[in-house]
Amino acid sequence: MKGPLRVAVLGAGTVGREVVRAILERPESLRLADGPGVVLAGVAVRDLGRAIAGGIPESLLTDAPAHLVAAPETDVIVELMGGDEPARTLIAAALANGTSVVTANKHVMAHHGPALEAIARRTGAALRFEASVGGGIPVLGPIAHELAANRIDAVRGIVNGTTNFILSAMASDGRAYGDVLADAQRAGYAEADPRGDVEGDDAANKLVVLARQAFGRWLSVGSIGRAPSLASGELGLPGITGVTIEDIAAAAARGFAIKLVAQAVRAQNGVAAAVVPSAVTLASALGRTDGVLNRIEVDGVPVGRVAFAGPGAGGAATSSAVLGDIIAIARGAGSSWAGRSATTSLEDALDLAADETFDAPSGARYPVIR
Ligand code: HSE
Repeated sequence: MKGPLRVAVLGAGTVGREVVRAILERPESLRLADGPGVVLAGVAVRDLGRAIAGGIPESLLTDAPAHLVAAPETDVIVELMGGDEPARTLIAAALANGTSVVTANKHVMAHHGPALEAIARRTGAALRFEASVGGGIPVLGPIAHELAANRIDAVRGIVNGTTNFILSAMASDGRAYGDVLADAQRAGYAEADPRGDVEGDDAANKLVVLARQAFGRWLSVGSIGRAPSLASGELGLPGITGVTIEDIAAAAARGFAIKLVAQAVRAQNGVAAAVVPSAVTLASALGRTDGVLNRIEVDGVPVGRVAFAGPGAGGAATSSAVLGDIIAIARGAGSSWAGRSATTSLEDALDLAADETFDAPSGARYPVIR
């Protein structure tokens, strides 16, 4: 049997500390019956004192992530810093060295996916990013593996836990938006800058990653529509920032829940995609997806519609996907795109038109999803 897989974790925040804890406290549960175990080679953090107070052994800690990336004895870099730089440069450097990477970073994958895929394919290093979509929900793996025989025609769903948590609380308790956002931040669901959640950027990033997996194309994030249209024909406010309590109540009276729905559909000349608050039938599975839960529905031929649901954010749930990717690397499973063909170019998403809208008191026209 080969020696243990030496894993360096960059970032010990909400997700990172759960991953570190699992590797330190239950390494046996990460060991394959016929493969190597997993050991921590190091943990890079910004605040050493806080990490030590949080229980990470001082001997493993560094504040220089580039040193862990450059160390020849590191087998896998687990990037959990989030954000753009330095995460992008560190991931690119690791892949360029031939070191495999596991990341939960939907921003980096959505904005730099084609370049990172090109480096990984050139060096043969594995790049895995299951945790970048749907927190703990397995969805990228099943699309690439068990659904590989299908032509995927559409992916849609609720992919941002923070906004779903806020919309659910606004609907059930009539609570103010800012008040619920603070709860989502305390629970570790929201991004460091929660504007990315509430304005739909985070969901758009995840939709780009889903579309790469489902359609074999990298879409440019900026081309994805993020606001409902208004009665005047203009666009409304991005993400859930324009959704009012009155809109939610009026929708409920018509049998709808307002949900931030990310949707990408195969079209004749490309992929049509949008992330907009939508009026979803209250009794449907999407309509009943509340709180931090996510739900992703995939339409494929010949399978029909399959759905993936579960906790879409939070440290413990997301660590499940990260640890699963580490074990996949130990198993020699390669990158998240599995055997799918190479995609290293970028294209714009097409507009996604709504067949039917719910015209709300605020003037917003929410696309109806039945
Ligand atoms: N801020 C993200 C969310 C975290 O709320 O869904 C998980 O990606």
